[in-house]
Amino acid sequence: MARCADAGCPHRGANLGLGRVVGGELECPYHGFRFEGGGACTLMPCEGRDAKPSRAMCLRMHPVREAHGFLWAYLGGQARGPLPELPWIPGAPEPDPHSASVEAVWNARFTRVMEGMMDLHHFPFAHRRYAPTAYTRLEPYEVRVEGGIVRSTGWLRKESSPSGTGFRFDIHVGYPGVLHLGFTPRLQGVVVCTPIDSEHTWISARYHQGYLPVPGLGWLTARLLLALEFQLVQPDDYRMVSTSLPRSGSLEHGVMVRADRAIVAWHRLHEEALGAHGDTAVAS
Ligand code: FES
Ligand SMILES: [Fe+2]
Repeated sequence: MARCADAGCPHRGANLGLGRVVGGELECPYHGFRFEGGGACTLMPCEGRDAKPSRAMCLRMHPVREAHGFLWAYLGGQARGPLPELPWIPGAPEPDPHSASVEAVWNARFTRVMEGMMDLHHFPFAHRRYAPTAYTRLEPYEVRVEGGIVRSTGWLRKESSPSGTGFRFDIHVGYPGVLHLGFTPRLQGVVVCTPIDSEHTWISARYHQGYLPVPGLGWLTARLLLALEFQLVQPDDYRMVSTSLPRSGSLEHGVMVRADRAIVAWHRLHEEALGAHGDTAVAS
């Protein structure tokens, strides 16, 4: 069963993420203090087996649940009532034998990472090493917001080609950081972005492929596609979002155009959420 606690050890602040689980308890990597699943300290080796840890020597715990192949923690402090719904997108694929995942940590702010994830018209420029450079025109491009989900569909085409030709993309975003990406009818992605702190963002991507739905090989194919994406394509995005100025994206930081409509819609939801919950809901 998953548990979630603040990373700083109550003793002297060591990162408990570097610790280990011993006999179902979490052991701090620095001086070996142990904590049970509810957060209480059960052992302070330096003080002896019979020592009674003070009440202050306990972990700050957060509600956590497991769903859709991810762990979801609520860090918003003491919830007054039921916890918020998970920002999952109905219809997004669940983990299966033909899907594979990778994780990355980017030195970029959450708002910039989310802008980059929703952006379609950067392909022929930021990815010019791999993407066809003539497909610059984003049209048609439709964006609608349903509940907390920003749904966008767009075609990237050549300027001289008719509307609705070229490459179609579907990007759905469950605010704040869940994405369901439709690349081709047989290749879909689920990406979850989470701010680690004000400067870093954790990205987890899962690819689902239907080209080779064969046990074992299905996973391998999805894993290879992800490896290509994260080795070749995503470094371009990282370069863009980590160096954009100012470091934070917002409606005030930029002159948005029609092709940025999904980004504008997301920022509106973000402003609403920050207004409603103060700075505890989502770091920006
Ligand atoms: S800092 Fe964790 S036991 Fe000392
Ligand atoms: Fe990109």
